[in-house]
Amino acid sequence: MILTKLKLNNFRNYQNLEINFTNGVNYILGENASGKTNLVEAIYFLSITRSFKTSNPTDLIKNNENYFYINGELLNNNYQNNLEIYFDKLGKKIKINKTKIDKISELSKYVNVLVFTPKDTFLLKEPPKTRRFFLNLNISKTYKEYTSCLINYEKILKERNLILKNKDVNKIYLNTLTKQLIKYSKEIYLYRKKYIDELNKHIDYVYKNLDKKNNYINIKYLSFINDFENYENIAIKKYQESLTNDINKQVTNIGIHKEDFLIELQNKDVGKYGSQGENRLVTLSLILSNYFINSEFNIKPIVILDDVLSELDNYHEELLIKFLKEFEQVFITGTKENTLLKNNCYQISNNLIERRY
Ligand SMILES: Nc1ncnc2c1ncn2[C@@H]1O[C@H](COP(=O)(O)OP(=O)(O)OP(=O)(O)O)[C@@H](O)[C@H]1O
Ligand SMILES: [Mg+2]
Repeated sequence: MILTKLKLNNFRNYQNLEINFTNGVNYILGENASGKTNLVEAIYFLSITRSFKTSNPTDLIKNNENYFYINGELLNNNYQNNLEIYFDKLGKKIKINKTKIDKISELSKYVNVLVFTPKDTFLLKEPPKTRRFFLNLNISKTYKEYTSCLINYEKILKERNLILKNKDVNKIYLNTLTKQLIKYSKEIYLYRKKYIDELNKHIDYVYKNLDKKNNYINIKYLSFINDFENYENIAIKKYQESLTNDINKQVTNIGIHKEDFLIELQNKDVGKYGSQGENRLVTLSLILSNYFINSEFNIKPIVILDDVLSELDNYHEELLIKFLKEFEQVFITGTKENTLLKNNCYQISNNLIERRY
């Protein structure tokens, strides 16, 4: 898919901005603090009405203003769609082709954006919660039913934890909740496993384009049960074994809400052993693999690479830029002129953006 036009009002440093983009690689060039990340943040916000920088949309309103507005024209398999997001203190209003929508998930039919930001370099070093967030977000974008499984699971988990906080735990009710928990666990496990298998099908290809070392790369999902056939029986046993600990700690200590994944290069955990450059290329490969998974469903996400070049050596920079030609539309930000990114170069200065070449 292609973002052909973007309009912003009062979004971060932009009061009024209107710009057309083309397919292929769009290079967003500008000095530090010129507004490069803010621009791509607006594009990302359009896809899931969430920022990759802040959980509070009020931060996105230009200082001293009281609303922001994003308008994007998107082209997807020859269909043109217009998306609008308006936000003020009363909340978000979303319109698709001028019609108001209530469900944010509707947006994903029209726009899908993948983003890499410098902090993603540390994805494999972060606590498991960060990786679970990555999994949940990407799986829900790929398999729509996943979100409701997750919501149901979390509702039951919350209830189970509440019961565990009682002085006298009602074991019969706890058992009922555990059974429900296991039902959704199994579904979530299946989705996660399927997603990791899909990623593994593509990550090798992506990584070999970004690093020619020919290293063996593999994503490992660390689940608390690894046997689909006997899932329920094993789970019941594990929850029984964990019961005393759960009652003592007044919380559910085991389950898919604790699961994690790691990535290995030559059978070594990249999060633990990899260099910073390796971590960057591996997490970038992980994120870009989603493009190829979605392409199988005839969706070619827009790719945003914020500040990805700053830590790459010339060789890896060249490999990456060459590889980007495979994607339908890419936004890549940087602070320096780059001979390989001469076409579709947009310069930002004084809160304005101008097409250079
Ligand atoms: N709500 C806001 N209202 C006005 N300005 C803002 C708002 N939020 C952030 N800014 C400002 O926008 C400017 C540009 O920020 P941005 O992160 O886009 O810079 P950048 O070009 O990505 O810089 P770098 O190269 O350092 O990453 C910053 O000076 C920041 O303080
Ligand atoms: Mg930036």
